Amino acid sequence: MNGRRGLTLVAGGAGFVGSHLGRALLDAGERVMCVDNLQTSRETNLLGLQNHANFRFVRADITEPLPAEVMERAGEFTRIYNLACAASPPLYQENPEHTMLTSVLGTNRLLRLAEQSGARLLLASTSEVYGDPEVHPQPEDYRGHVNCTGPRACYDEGKRAAESLAFDFARAGRAEVRVARIFNTYGPNMRMDDGRVISNLVCQALSGEPLTVYGDGSQTRSFCYVADTVDGLRRLMESPLAELQPVNIGNPEEITIKQLVNALAAIIGHPLELEYRELPTDDPKRRRPVIARAKELLGWQPTTALDQGLEKTLAWFAHELKTNHARRLVERHGYERVLRSAMGEDRVERVPLQVPS
Ligand SMILES: NC(=O)c1ccc[n+]([C@@H]2O[C@H](COP(=O)([O-])OP(=O)(O)OC[C@H]3O[C@@H](n4cnc5c(N)ncnc54)[C@H](O)[C@@H]3O)[C@@H](O)[C@H]2O)c1
Repeated sequence: MNGRRGLTLVAGGAGFVGSHLGRALLDAGERVMCVDNLQTSRETNLLGLQNHANFRFVRADITEPLPAEVMERAGEFTRIYNLACAASPPLYQENPEHTMLTSVLGTNRLLRLAEQSGARLLLASTSEVYGDPEVHPQPEDYRGHVNCTGPRACYDEGKRAAESLAFDFARAGRAEVRVARIFNTYGPNMRMDDGRVISNLVCQALSGEPLTVYGDGSQTRSFCYVADTVDGLRRLMESPLAELQPVNIGNPEEITIKQLVNALAAIIGHPLELEYRELPTDDPKRRRPVIARAKELLGWQPTTALDQGLEKTLAWFAHELKTNHARRLVERHGYERVLRSAMGEDRVERVPLQVPS
């Protein structure tokens, strides 16, 4: 790493969104330190980054005291992105205590680091802070409808507490913070077994298996392509206007799951077989951001159309299923079984992660 510019810490930088953010920062000439415990990252997300002269990877869990390698460089950090947290329901429910502590204790450690270094911190919060919303679409001043005792609470309430902490630090003048409420994001570098709707449907379609539709498929979501999300996060981090207010980052185009399946079928070029299952507990029925604040403060809105983003994602997963350990898992067990294993309903022997040095 060269010593000319400040250093940006990306916690969770080996994950899906974090790996794209790291790449965008490096392409912009930034120096990046990625801190990640590799708990939910794909083994290959770091491959394109770790040989870059301006990139440093530190394997650490932010619920633990930050390692010397990070603390020794506290004086150099000018920006801290906190993306660390398992983000898909099966993965964050695997160890709910750790998920909650990652948001609360981990965010606290990074806020203290921001205070010590004078860095600005951006917290990757989530649309899940709105729970199963009674207000639609969701503006930032909607306070949410979250079940604090349900199986999703470790994530939803953890993020709500992390937001509180961030704003407490900001109000007390201890750190400059930005809070992004990210809505469903998709694209290359997602894990195929993370149980999120786009990766599920795309992998099932590519593996020739029936597509699982929960409920009757009339529930809605809005999907933002990852390049747009990363652009929104970077603009928010650099905005002088977005202090002390959370900002929704997501795509306001709302579609039903059935429409999503049809869009996939149109790209693949043939009808897809569907299999219906019961809706999971506390699954939100509708989700759509109001992005007026992001437009006004950041001049941001998504620019990637769903069919363009889906095409890129399908192409990436097709390559992934041909070339990577994902293929070996799916060949050995079938995609459905790999997914059930991720949901804790079955066990498959996992191919171990390659841990980068
Ligand atoms: N992808 C989305 O649709 C979405 C939507 C809303 C919010 N978010 C938020 O954005 C962030 C990134 O999400 P993602 O989709 O890239 O998820 P991801 O699981 O791919 O990435 C999260 C990364 O954080 C790491 N991590 C988890 N706990 C950690 C800990 N205690 N210490 C260190 N590292 C830890 C994981 O190993 C992983 O690399 C998350 O905070 C998530 O809550 C994402």
